[in-house]
Amino acid sequence: MCGIVAYVGHRDACPIILKGLKRLEYRGYDSAGIALMNGDLSVYKRKGKVSDLEEFIVDKDVHGHIGMGHTRWATHGEPNDVNAHPHYSSSKRIAIIHNGIIENYAALKTLLLEKGHTFQSETDSEVFINLIEDIQQNSKCSLPEAVRLALHEVVGAYAIVVLSKEDQNTLIAARKGSPLVVGIGEGEYFLASDATPIIEYTNDVVYVNDFELVVIRDGELEIRTKEDVVQTPYVQRLEMALESIEKGGYPHFMLKEIFEQPRSILDSMRGRMIAESNHLMMGGIREFENKFVNAERILIVACGTSWHAGLVAEYLIEDLARIPVEVEYASEFRYRNPIISERDIVIAISQSGETADTLAALELAKSKGATIFGICNVVGSSIARATDAGAYTHAGPEIGVASTKAFTAQVTVLSLIAMIIGSKRGTLETTKLHQLMVELESIPAKVERALLLDVQIQEISATFKDATNFLYLGRGYNFPVALEGALKLKEISYIHAEGYPAAEMKHGPIALIDEHMPVVVIATKDSSYEKIVSNIQEVKARKGRIIAIVTEGDTTIPAMADYVIEIPETSEHLVPLLSVIPLQLLSYHIAVMRGCNVDQPRNLAKSVTVE
Ligand code: G6P
Repeated sequence: MCGIVAYVGHRDACPIILKGLKRLEYRGYDSAGIALMNGDLSVYKRKGKVSDLEEFIVDKDVHGHIGMGHTRWATHGEPNDVNAHPHYSSSKRIAIIHNGIIENYAALKTLLLEKGHTFQSETDSEVFINLIEDIQQNSKCSLPEAVRLALHEVVGAYAIVVLSKEDQNTLIAARKGSPLVVGIGEGEYFLASDATPIIEYTNDVVYVNDFELVVIRDGELEIRTKEDVVQTPYVQRLEMALESIEKGGYPHFMLKEIFEQPRSILDSMRGRMIAESNHLMMGGIREFENKFVNAERILIVACGTSWHAGLVAEYLIEDLARIPVEVEYASEFRYRNPIISERDIVIAISQSGETADTLAALELAKSKGATIFGICNVVGSSIARATDAGAYTHAGPEIGVASTKAFTAQVTVLSLIAMIIGSKRGTLETTKLHQLMVELESIPAKVERALLLDVQIQEISATFKDATNFLYLGRGYNFPVALEGALKLKEISYIHAEGYPAAEMKHGPIALIDEHMPVVVIATKDSSYEKIVSNIQEVKARKGRIIAIVTEGDTTIPAMADYVIEIPETSEHLVPLLSVIPLQLLSYHIAVMRGCNVDQPRNLAKSVTVE
């Protein structure tokens, strides 16, 4: 989390940095700051959003051709002006912005205090910059060399940029565990946590690797390792349209992304399937096809919404390919001493490709010899680069903090994987495979139809916007959807919501049900339909208020439910791609009606690069 941007070149740095910070605000938004060099090294920072920082600097002299900015998601020290980045060293000669966590900061701080350094904030980042200053003072070396040596002392994760008042033409940066991209323009350079602040100016980027130090001085880019070995920068051309990171007339990114789903689902299957000829292909899998076909077990590691997509995959892969699947919270898996063998395949799912726990979980599995497959949305992200093979979801940039189109893209890719393995293993017969492919091809148009429910869902949202609790129930393929629906509501409306397997409800949550409890039941026509009808009766008998998501044309459940939302019919294997749509819209409208900041919900960040 935290977003960093820096610029050096012929333009005025401040507007570029502020615009970049706004693009990165999804990474954290509790405070923001900027440092500019214009003879001096000036730092301006403020608690709150980038817009608060903009207001703060409106009457200040913020000109300069080199500078850096930061938008923060607090780890060490509460969000306030002092803890906001950039941080000066004790002498105020140098300053840092930092994304990540320095785990040994307390020990380093004690040492530095003994040596006379002083600290203003409670952050680990201020320790980092004082360490750099201390090394430079003691070894009388250049600043880039001091930064390089400091990288040997710190334990943890970082993407940093360092500026020095004494060197008005140099940007120094380094990375370990937190993302960092260099943009190369005409006589100008950009540094950022991802490419979104850069693509307006250039499509040529270099992804910085772990333990690399970047020095941009007098128009030259130099990358060397922590061990001082010079690297040849690998310049990649990014294909990302500027419109894809703008709101395009929608009031919020989340709504735009919900409505983009017919297109993003299509993009995630594009070139991977031709139903007419029963043709399925996924470059990433081809090379490892035998491993997939012969896998004894598939482990899925992920967090948040990606974990829910993983849960859908468990149903899909076990059903269609008959390989046992275990879905793990990456944060638990990595600390559990898990049993992993070389015959296991581990699938890491991550929209951002930067989630620290998912990355660590896959590294652990890799160290034990498992084959690692990645499903990421962000091209060139850390997880995408750490895996043996993988498939991008191609959903386009997702900026709203609550994940929507990334989920449906992940489920689409996972459906294709399940079909590919199932057909190769002979567990999915050709006729069934063909039916599924035809059905999958029709999903974008059906999502389009489901989106027409928006007006009806707004009305339902108005009825329930003041509820204090919600229960979401589903069975089979709709159980992960219930979890996802509840998560969406919690994240952006701050209403307590629980997702539960509908049958498990009677072992606890049923005690919560009374006439005030809205219960969203996802009850589409599938193999557990009769069972979920009974579960609805159980809720109704306790006067719960039922909002049912049903298949178009159903007459049984509408007779029992208080509110009915009809979605198009599809195969139960693919139903999450449709049943999640009304739940995304419900949470969106309730949150808007409650006056919540939908795209930047409190305490959350889109990309969680700390453990
Ligand atoms: C954060 C986001 C969630 C996301 C989760 C996993 O918590 O707020 O929306 O699902 O991280 O992120 P990933 O990028 O790994 O899918």
